[in-house]
Amino acid sequence: MADDPLVRAAREAQARAYAPYSQYRVGAALEAEDGRVFVGANVENASYGLGICAERSAVSAAVTAGALRFRRIVVVSDSEPPAAPCGACRQVLAEFGGDLVVEAVGPRSAARWRLDELLPATFRRATLDAVARGPVA
Ligand code: THU
Repeated sequence: MADDPLVRAAREAQARAYAPYSQYRVGAALEAEDGRVFVGANVENASYGLGICAERSAVSAAVTAGALRFRRIVVVSDSEPPAAPCGACRQVLAEFGGDLVVEAVGPRSAARWRLDELLPATFRRATLDAVARGPVA
């Protein structure tokens, strides 16, 4: 686990988290299908609701660089058991596919899921195309 390059990248990002309000630091490393790795950290704000999570920071970095297909995301926190992505981040990650492997790493342990286990019955692009026409039930 410690020698996993994605875990290392997520820890480095965690060290750069900007979390003066919660003091809760999170780092994420998102591996694209082409092997590139994009990192993110949580970035808080004096206007509390404007803070962004580490996972969504990593997604923004990836998409901005042209990556849209992903294999795995590692999320590092100081919680035990380790923190899984929040609901908003699950939804944002799901935009790019439910087969993403999600790993949560804490100081002493790690956990792993598929994204569609963390967010079943996902609201997705296909849902928008599935508008039922005709008589109301
Ligand atoms: N946070 C993340 O970065 N990712 C998550 O999945 C959950 C929470 C951040 C947001 C906020 O800056 C701090 O952790 C405390 O909620």
